[in-house]
Amino acid sequence: MRVLSGIQPSGKLHLGNYLGAIKQHIQLQDEHEGLYFIANYHSLTTVQDADRLRGLTSDVALDYLALGLDPKKACLFRQTDIPEVCELAWILSTVTGEGLLRRAHSYKDKVAHGVSSSMGLMCYPLLMASDILIYDSDIVPVGQDQVQHLEMTQDMAGHFNNSYGVEVLKRPEVMLNDACIVPGIDGQKMSKSYGNTIELFDTAKRTRKRIMSIKTDSTPLEDPKDPDTCNVFALYKLLAEQDEVKELASRYRAGGMGYGDAKSALADVVERVLGPARERREKLTGDPDYVEDVLLNGAKKARGLAQLVMERVRKACGLVTGKNT
Ligand code: ADP
Ligand code: TRP
Repeated sequence: MRVLSGIQPSGKLHLGNYLGAIKQHIQLQDEHEGLYFIANYHSLTTVQDADRLRGLTSDVALDYLALGLDPKKACLFRQTDIPEVCELAWILSTVTGEGLLRRAHSYKDKVAHGVSSSMGLMCYPLLMASDILIYDSDIVPVGQDQVQHLEMTQDMAGHFNNSYGVEVLKRPEVMLNDACIVPGIDGQKMSKSYGNTIELFDTAKRTRKRIMSIKTDSTPLEDPKDPDTCNVFALYKLLAEQDEVKELASRYRAGGMGYGDAKSALADVVERVLGPARERREKLTGDPDYVEDVLLNGAKKARGLAQLVMERVRKACGLVTGKNT
């Protein structure tokens, strides 16, 4: 099976991105053909500063490699190294009703949060559908917030195939991540737009400090506490081993433990998970040529796949005569 997913380089990646997306991408590389890309065309809808976008793009590549993406098993590449995705997005726009794009939750949500309502933002789902359909992807692992975009992708593939009377575009399946919504330090969904994230690769010291600032209620130290309503415990549960989770839950219920202790236990587990990756990341930062090679090799393979699909698409639409291919 061919698995494809993308992540926007629109800010420093955080624990929500790791637990809700990247971790699963990396696990899937062992059983499937993985294609993972850095959605830098998409980020132009929010990041319009060349140096910043370049920096964030290379950060995502470093993050994936440090967290365990193995370039021998999966392809990692930049979206912009496959220019054909813009061509397919245009073609999809000609078979997609305007109403479908206007109904997108993510578009409405971003506009409500102050992102400027450009045509690029509205057409985001067209480019995302193109990213997926151009590789004949079978499975697309995403978080709950992206499910509607996947349904739109399936619709667009269907509209294209119906319009031209041929099964050219393969309809992908969604793989919903079971890691629910990861809460931020204020208990809302962790998101870079809410300023409540725990970054993946801040220094160990700053990460611990950030964890110590997680919002908790004011139950006195000696009283029993409910682990199931606590933000600290919610994060702990996603990162610690099962027996550790059980043990911390009983310490909550027994009383006599302050939230400071729970936060400290969480900080230890976060460091256990991210510490070795931070070291790998530091080494990779010193070898930009290696990282660039990984991205270019990934793009070479992905572009080969994209060109095959584009040949079918152009032929189905009558964009080639047979002499101009
Ligand atoms: P942000 O909300 O910080 O801008 P993105 O929208 O760029 O994050 O998310 C990139 C990926 O990470 C998506 O697949 C999304 O489902 C996942 N993700 C982001 N935040 C969370 C979260 N708090 N919990 C679970 N998954 C998340
Ligand atoms: N829209 C996705 C997000 O914000 C990123 C993305 C772009 C993507 N193209 C994709 C995800 C294709 C999966 C498949 O998280």
